[in-house]
Amino acid sequence: MADESYKAQIDREKVQQMAEHTMGFLGGAVISGMIYLGDKMGLYRTLDGAGPVTSDELAQKTGLHERWLREWLEGQAAAGLLEYKGNRKFELSAEAAMVLSNENSPAFMAGGFCSLPQQMGVIERLPESFKTGLGLPYDAFGPEGARGVERFLAPWFQAHLVPRALPALDGVVSKLEAGAKVADVGCGGGVALIKVAEAFPQAECHGYDISEYALARAEENKAKAGVQNVAFHDANGDAIPDDKSFDFITTFDCLHDMANPTPVIQAIYSALKPDGTWLIADIHSMPTFEENLEQNPLAPLMYGFSVMCCMSSAMSTPDGEGLGTLGFTEPVARRMVGSAGFSRFKRHDFDNPINAYYEVRP
Ligand SMILES: C[S@@+](CC[C@H](N)C(=O)[O-])C[C@H]1O[C@@H](n2cnc3c(N)ncnc32)[C@H](O)[C@@H]1O
Repeated sequence: MADESYKAQIDREKVQQMAEHTMGFLGGAVISGMIYLGDKMGLYRTLDGAGPVTSDELAQKTGLHERWLREWLEGQAAAGLLEYKGNRKFELSAEAAMVLSNENSPAFMAGGFCSLPQQMGVIERLPESFKTGLGLPYDAFGPEGARGVERFLAPWFQAHLVPRALPALDGVVSKLEAGAKVADVGCGGGVALIKVAEAFPQAECHGYDISEYALARAEENKAKAGVQNVAFHDANGDAIPDDKSFDFITTFDCLHDMANPTPVIQAIYSALKPDGTWLIADIHSMPTFEENLEQNPLAPLMYGFSVMCCMSSAMSTPDGEGLGTLGFTEPVARRMVGSAGFSRFKRHDFDNPINAYYEVRP
């Protein structure tokens, strides 16, 4: 800059605050890597219920190198994830175990870190996307990408979908009990659909996805659960039929990252019976950027996810609609489903800070 007078006006305290603010993001990124290691190597699971342990004791339990464990333990305590009990002993509290160790807890979060290296890895390819406009397909993250999404979203399905969400939908549970035909479009690893199939053995359940990695996970999860009333379909060649035969359709966290959600929404309308129900879960987002800025504490994280993953996937074809993580707001949802022919729209709140839920009917 030719005019250097701006330097005289610089508020040094604000510079310091900005430096600390920025350093916090570097800290978050690095500590995320440490959480990834704790999950991958089973350290949180080993510490869960073990009481206060030293690095030597953890080394004995895990067969890992004491010096490396000591550094990791001290870092975890410094980050407030483990508690330091004195005498070189570290403990995973019961509350922290619900977030970091217990895969069946509704608060479990560590699973979402399992695709961190792949998510960070694609950043190298994004400058090209900023030039061309073309993003990366969902499968660019490899098998770990599908696994990370599955583990991040599964806790809510495990804890809340069947007991909390389904009974709130008009007439859906009685239809499921009687043997409804169900589809989950953008089913990912199939956790939600398998949960429904287990709870309602009379129901005929179909999952549709375009990701080879997600579909492979879905087949694995189906085999593990031993359910017979679920089939998964590759929507690339075996899309949901337009025969108005489905009683209940779900889409969980996928419309915003589809390249072309408009034809998928039309296909759902054509697949659903006239008295059927569609449950949409999508990212909780305010109608405007300004509202997200002021009222949405998850906005910085969600914009980052969007550039790395969701908007990238939504821009992965030349005609991509590009909604992105925060793009399927309630007004957008109302407009898009209304254009496809749906006439009834009801919002639900199922105590999930990440998602908004819409019950949509023809
Ligand atoms: C964020 S994931 C959510 C997966 C799953 N619903 C869950 O909650 O775990 C989005 C999924 O939508 C899928 N998807 C994207 N476009 C699709 C399309 N046109 N048809 C079906 N699935 C699609 C992706 O492959 C991905 O598995």
